[in-house]
Order: sequence, then structure tokens, then C-alpha cells
Amino acid sequence: MPRKKTQPDNAQPEQAQPAKAQAKKAQKAVQELSGLYTYAPGMPWNPVEKVIMERRSIRAFKKEPLPDSMIRRILEAGRFAPSAGNAQPWKFAVIKSPEILAEMEKDAIRLCKILMWFLDYTRSDFRKKYLSIYTKLMIRLRYNEFHPVPFSLLKLIADGKAPVFHGAPTLILLIEDKRGVSRPPVDIGICGQTMVLTAHSLGAGTCWIGLVKLLMYYPKWRKRFGIEWPYELNDCLALGWQKGSLDGEVIREVQNVSWYEGGLDDPPRTERQGE
Ligand SMILES: Cc1cc2nc3c(=O)[nH]c(=O)nc-3n(C[C@H](O)[C@H](O)[C@H](O)COP(=O)(O)O)c2cc1C
Repeated sequence: MPRKKTQPDNAQPEQAQPAKAQAKKAQKAVQELSGLYTYAPGMPWNPVEKVIMERRSIRAFKKEPLPDSMIRRILEAGRFAPSAGNAQPWKFAVIKSPEILAEMEKDAIRLCKILMWFLDYTRSDFRKKYLSIYTKLMIRLRYNEFHPVPFSLLKLIADGKAPVFHGAPTLILLIEDKRGVSRPPVDIGICGQTMVLTAHSLGAGTCWIGLVKLLMYYPKWRKRFGIEWPYELNDCLALGWQKGSLDGEVIREVQNVSWYEGGLDDPPRTERQGE
């Protein structure tokens, strides 16, 4: 069963409280953060944990960008991320030009429309009959890219009901060097999330934008951003000051975790993490 809010050491959720009391308690919890480099069972989150737990994807930004000094600081956190063999298989590009950002948004939407024209076989009986077989095959072959979740987001974007880059005044492109050690995409994920958490800790909002990859269907964008072998666009971070309030909490699944604590042949004990 998914569960809404995470708490230190899986402490039992408390009884429902009136909003005011909850807000007061949350305020108190912030003041009661544990120090860094200590651990005691049941202690409140420390500042690093608090940043991790309260970070959310931000999908509405103020027009004004973050100061360059702050963006550099966020990049610096990425530069210091760990990577296999310390290969640092990445390069970054910061996009702040409103003209370029607007063109990227327009092209990403255009590509969504083209994709949906091919993929959405539910639009007519004719398409259902003749297109569904090819679409389903494509979904099977490229199951990550055409997963149902981004598929529904693609549809919303194609219908003009959702933006791609959420109007962020700055994007950081995470460009992967395919020559890295072992699995460079893992390094990029670590590097990007290090930047995301740093941004949050400095009061900025971020959102990963995997859909940026749509732009790689356009040779003009690959050329503009210098993305050619051995480089590949891996992902993108939208960055800026949060506008408005957050849209509800995103639930996380309870995880069944196997704990191997006995002898070589003893079965593991399963613990439900997050319950
Ligand atoms: C690699 C990656 C790619 C993502 N791509 C998008 C995207 O293209 N558009 C978007 O709105 N959110 C995107 N997200 C955000 C996820 O939807 C979000 O992290 C998830 O729903 C959990 O919500 P939270 O970040 O608020 O905790 C992406 C997240 C990750 C990690």
C-alpha cells in the first residue's frame, strides 16, 4: 500500500490534527532539526534529510531567473558528484535565452503532436484497426520511451493542455559522455540529483525534464548544443523560483526489503519499508 508522508525511522503516523495544529507542529519540527553527523533512533530529520524529504518537482516558475552566482553554485555541486572511476562523463549547458527557450518549447510541442498523430490509434476506428498493431509493437520494442505514463503526458502536451518546460527561465542540459566508465547514465542521474538537492537547499525550485529528448529528433538542436558522438543528451533540469504552491503530495510505494541476516542458506526476512 502506498503511504503519503515519510517520517524518521518509520515512526507511526499520528492521528489527524486540525490544519493549524499541523502547521504549528511542522514549524516546530523545522526548529528541532537534528545536527549533522549524528544518529540516534527516532531523532528528527537533520538538515540534509529535510532537504531530501521535502524536495518536490516544481512545475510553475516566476519569470525572473535565479542569479548567475546561484546557478554556478548549483553547477558546482554537480561537478563534485561521484562517478564511476571518477570519469565525470558529463558536460553541462545553461540555457537562459528567452528566445531559445521559447523555440525549444515550440519544437518540443510540435514533435509531441507528430508523435501522437502516429501513436494515438484510439482516435478513430480506422486507426484502431490498422495502426494499433504497429503502435503496440513499437511500445513493446521501446517500452521505456513509450511507457503509459509519459504517453499520457505526451497526449496532454500535444493537446495544448500541458507545457514541456513549465515556463522555467533556466534549463540545465545534462549531456552524457558515452565514453565514461561502466554506466554513464547512472553517473548523470547522481550528478543531476546532486544539483537538484543543492538548488532546493538554496531555496530554488527544479524539475527534471526527460521530455527534452524530443528535441534530439531535430538536427538543428543537436548542432546548436554541440551534441554529437561521443556526447548524447541525457536529461535536463528546469530551474527557477517557485511560483504558487505545490500540487499535493506525491505518494511513494511501500518497499518490501529483503534483509539477509542469518546463515548462508537462511531465507531473508522481509521488512515493509515506509509503513
Ligand atoms: C529522470 C526524470 C525525468 C523526468 N521527466 C519529467 C518531465 O519530462 N516532465 C515533468 O513534468 N516531470 C518530469 N519528472 C518529474 C517526475 O514526474 C517526479 O519526480 C515524480 O512524479 C515524483 O514527484 P516529486 O519529484 O514531486 O517527488 C522527471 C523525473 C525524473 C527523475
